[in-house]
Amino acid sequence: MRDVQQPLLFETSWEVANKVGGIYTVIKTKVPVTVQEYGDRYHLTGPWNRFTAPVEVEEIEPDQPAIKQAIESIRAQGIQVLYGRWLIDGAPRVVLFDIGSAAFKLDEWKGDLWRVAGIPSPPNDTETNDAILLGYLNAWFLARHKEQAAEKPVWHLDLLPDITRPVADNVAKNDQEHAIIAQFHEWQAGVGAVLCNKRKIDVATIFTTHATLLGRYLCAGNVDFYNNLRHFNVDEEAGKRGIYHRYCIERAASHCVDVFTTVSNITAYEAEYLLKRKPDGVLPNGLNVVKFSAMHEFQNLHQVAKEKINRFVRGHFYGHYNFDLENTLYFFTAGRYEYRNKGIDMYIESLARLNARLKACNSPVTVVAFIITPAKVNSFTVETLKGQALIKQLEDTVNEVSARIGRRIFEMAARGKEPQADDLLTEQDRILLKRRVFSLKRDALPPIVTHNVADDSEDPVLSQLRAVQLFNNDDDRVKVVFHPEFLNANNPVIGLDYEDFIRGTHLGVFPSYYEPWGYTPAECTVMGVPSITTNLSGFGCFMEDNIVNPQDYGIYIVDRRMKSADESQDQLASHMFDFCQKSRRQRINQRNRTERLSDILDWKRMGIEYMKARQCALRRCYPESKISRPQSIPGTPIDGADLATYDLAALSITAELPGIKDHDEDSDLRPPIHLKMKTPLMTPTI
Ligand code: UDP
Ligand code: G6P
Ligand code: GLC
Repeated sequence: MRDVQQPLLFETSWEVANKVGGIYTVIKTKVPVTVQEYGDRYHLTGPWNRFTAPVEVEEIEPDQPAIKQAIESIRAQGIQVLYGRWLIDGAPRVVLFDIGSAAFKLDEWKGDLWRVAGIPSPPNDTETNDAILLGYLNAWFLARHKEQAAEKPVWHLDLLPDITRPVADNVAKNDQEHAIIAQFHEWQAGVGAVLCNKRKIDVATIFTTHATLLGRYLCAGNVDFYNNLRHFNVDEEAGKRGIYHRYCIERAASHCVDVFTTVSNITAYEAEYLLKRKPDGVLPNGLNVVKFSAMHEFQNLHQVAKEKINRFVRGHFYGHYNFDLENTLYFFTAGRYEYRNKGIDMYIESLARLNARLKACNSPVTVVAFIITPAKVNSFTVETLKGQALIKQLEDTVNEVSARIGRRIFEMAARGKEPQADDLLTEQDRILLKRRVFSLKRDALPPIVTHNVADDSEDPVLSQLRAVQLFNNDDDRVKVVFHPEFLNANNPVIGLDYEDFIRGTHLGVFPSYYEPWGYTPAECTVMGVPSITTNLSGFGCFMEDNIVNPQDYGIYIVDRRMKSADESQDQLASHMFDFCQKSRRQRINQRNRTERLSDILDWKRMGIEYMKARQCALRRCYPESKISRPQSIPGTPIDGADLATYDLAALSITAELPGIKDHDEDSDLRPPIHLKMKTPLMTPTI
């Protein structure tokens, strides 16, 4: 019998030590709780990104014989493998495959994939080719590892899988080694899941999808997605979009595993219709809250980070800096450049409406609205760099002049002379300052974009900003800054890491149309920054399902299900307008409330769903084994059938108490968070 009490866990994703989007955040932030449970029995596998690995991963010698031999057998074929520790909290062990060094196997493996799984792959789709290479390397590694651990052949792989062997013969039955759980994230890692099944590699498998390919493509293309979900001819739609082969991988992976999961109810519903398998459960995304919550310091951190954004704003708007920073609010949206899916279109339209409303009521408030999303660019514009340089020059000059004034006051006072205002500024300093002030004059308006965008005239964000005439005019109450690159502290213009930037802002705005989870508002929440999301995002639905009046805690949810686009835009504009009416004190109180929701998003809670999924996979794979439940999993009635339920009542937050007023924005009191009675996310299929 395999040791199912102490299983090994291998988790595979394209985004292991390789940042692309939110899946990287899932994997990275979940590591501490997984390492706590599995220790050195946990490995992550993925592609070896030569650019980022040197700073992300420390190479070490494999010390577990089965791992060492599995890696050596792959290296012996000329394929490069990096074994090391990922330099993040929890320092997990990683096995990274150099996809390029395996390219010589591509044609054989493509042929094999067609033969064993009927999955086609056209010649020039690099992403699919990479997914195939990663899948085969991963399956090869798992099979070899199994073989080494079992000390008998499982799947003979010299150069490539021996596809002529009857696979069932190769399975090592009744061996004594640890059971293995292999979890695969997203279609890019899906080929491994398919091969585990087709090659009968003796591992319990989980496939977790963070979106569906068809969902993402259909939504991006102006389709009434949610109303037609049941009726799409999936093969035809995938074919029309040139992604049929990718779709085949995704669909095969979801059907080949012991347990199939997604990250939210809304994506589970979508997967049921588009992938034709009802997910067994939902694994909502958490965050490593210890890392993000700065306890009571977070309000101070907001002020410090905001000061850095202020500095950028003074430079960017030079010559037209006629607004009061004490009365300025920073809004932002951020994420991969999926214009419609991420709701950037709705954000811009609503900003234009907000501008009109603020102007109409002569509001003293100015909103600077950032759009942070990577587009094809050719570096910063000269104007952007010049603005920052000019403001720096002015600051240096003012510092020098102030120092000279200080020395003069001191000298005069030391000699017993009372300093007079006219004595303080010399003629030279006066001229110097005048020159600096003159250099700040400019005719053109402050730019709406910080970089030279490669496709300036076709770029969707720029086109829409122009269409709604958000040009940073002096009388505009809403100013816009499109920063078409992710942020980092070495950036010469904003000079803040994304996390610090969030802290300095007042409101995150993420009106997504297609968003299986959506980390961006969740990250705002744990940093105590209010945000706007929608009831089409996994995160928005999660909050709506679990919190009474999420709006009281700074989570605004725009209705994109039951309202027309125009109505949703109005609702978004109203939320932003109402936010502009808040006093500083109300904003501070609201940030405190928002930050208190962090516990709900902590992996210490969310990770329980992963534990359940793994238990369920083991039970399904080894039905004859007796698998005991880890103590940390709350008791549930049916073996493995509780995958999708979660137990917010166990939170340290007090459940609803009648009669307590919980929405007084002027109050500093900390009433309990009102939680809804939880309902199971999904009905499991077993
Ligand atoms: N992000 C970032 N830098 C930025 C903007 C965003 O690192 O300047 C990260 C953000 O922290 C989040 C991820 O990008 O973790 C986006 O994840 P999300 O789930 O919101 O969307 P996805 O890109 O996966 O669709
Ligand atoms: C934090 C700081 C306060 C500061 C406030 C500004 O709470 O601790 O010192 O006054 O932020 O808030 P605001 O919403 O105006 O940026
Ligand atoms: C996907 C989704 C995003 C989700 C992330 C992590 O990339 O687009 O909504 O937050 O995966 O699950």
